[in-house]
Amino acid sequence: MEQKRIKIKNLLVSNEVGSEVNVKGWVRTKRGNKQINFIALNDGSTIQNLQIVVDVPNFNEDLLKKISTGAAISVIGEVIASQGSGQSVEISATRIEVLGVADPEKYPLQPKKHSLEFLREKAHLRFRTSTFSAVFRIRHAMAFAVHEFFNKKGFFYMHTPLITGSDAEGAGEMFRVSTLNAKNPPLNEDGSINYKEDFFGKETNLTVSGQLEGELGAMALGEIYTFGPTFRAENSNTTRHLAEFWMIEPEMAFYDITDNMDLAEEFLKYMIKYALDNCMEDLEFLSKRLQEEEKGKKDSEKSMELIQKLRFVLENDFVRLTYTEAIEILRNCQPNKKKKFQYLINEWGADLQSEHERYLVEKKFEKPVILIDYPKEIKSFYMKQNEDGKTVAAMDILFPGIGEIIGGSQREEDLDKLVTRMKEMGIPAEDMDWYLDTRRFGTATHSGFGLGFERMMLFVTGMGNIRDVIPFPRTPKNAEF
Ligand code: 4AD
Ligand code: MG
Repeated sequence: MEQKRIKIKNLLVSNEVGSEVNVKGWVRTKRGNKQINFIALNDGSTIQNLQIVVDVPNFNEDLLKKISTGAAISVIGEVIASQGSGQSVEISATRIEVLGVADPEKYPLQPKKHSLEFLREKAHLRFRTSTFSAVFRIRHAMAFAVHEFFNKKGFFYMHTPLITGSDAEGAGEMFRVSTLNAKNPPLNEDGSINYKEDFFGKETNLTVSGQLEGELGAMALGEIYTFGPTFRAENSNTTRHLAEFWMIEPEMAFYDITDNMDLAEEFLKYMIKYALDNCMEDLEFLSKRLQEEEKGKKDSEKSMELIQKLRFVLENDFVRLTYTEAIEILRNCQPNKKKKFQYLINEWGADLQSEHERYLVEKKFEKPVILIDYPKEIKSFYMKQNEDGKTVAAMDILFPGIGEIIGGSQREEDLDKLVTRMKEMGIPAEDMDWYLDTRRFGTATHSGFGLGFERMMLFVTGMGNIRDVIPFPRTPKNAEF
């Protein structure tokens, strides 16, 4: 077929009735009778299917038989004004070529609604459903928006290593990286594994965060951000945790905690606005999907309509609150008094669980909340110690339906305070000399944060399970595909 192919998205925009075009894609459905067939064709460029009208007597019977859900076809035909509702145009086919058949007996996706659980097991094919193609088009747009936002602001994109020789973050269990023979590793005299013989001559792991290296960049380039995969072997089988997830970590010299909060709020709103401006068709589809899914629920349990929710977050200031204020609210709230929380809040110092975070965001304020000044005991060693001696300049941003979406802080720039804190927390300073050099030479106020990309995707798409917003999720006991 010599005719140059046009993508369905472009065809629906250009709308040139009377012209001849070539479209290629995968069949979503085929229906009709002995006279006329209608094929819904999708090529991934848009959520919209293009209707192909087939005048059956003009085509070879065997050819038409091969066209079933999932088959790849190429169609040449004339653009005609659409008879029915929906699209403005459709194609009256003159030539059809079957590029690849999909045996209806074996093809797992039928032209009906499949559950998300079923599709998770068919993750290699789920891109071909409307829901997942919408999610992954939005994922692309969100990644693009991240780079656009920081590039416009003069931040530099920095690639931090995935293999790391330090476990400084202590953010959770790490995945070991090793080329030693697992069955028969070289041993030290005391029976422990001799990592000196390992590939890097030391124990190495997959990174849990690019922050520490990011700080080195920020203390020279001024403002940097990382955007890459991170790995945590925490055994949390929840709808919010992945063992491999993507994180965006900006790090900025000369920013204090307030500058940090301002940047984070602006960044989240930029991404939401980008989705509203560029992904409306997909968002509308996902909104309908969500409403459909929640049909059975009581009104009080239904979530806010997706697009309305995105606009709401965009148009309202986030609530800013100290940890101490949050504890007061939580201690005196109904679910705590009536012992409805799984973890009751009794005293200052308690770590907040997602039930508490969601109470603050969804019940108390009904807005995103930025919590600051956490007890130092429940936060990382590198966070700036406040004057009160009890709290650190940490900030967590809590989102409706999600809980924590961002974690960050102003960093401790004072060498002595930092080293003392590391000793208290049992972090070996000798392994971290390179990090401490930023505090030895030209130290300055600086701050940063980490946004979990998939948690942001959950919020923007309204999907309920983090496994459904990353193409191939890695979770405990699951590394399929
Ligand atoms: O709060 P966390 O652990 O912060 C850091 O890693 C810092 N180094 C960030 C920084 O200051 N540069 O993680 C940051 C965010 C969380 O708020 C959450 O959105 C996401 O990463 N996250 C996860 N997302 C999916 N699965 C997991 N297992 C996650 N753990 C954290
Ligand atoms: Mg955190």
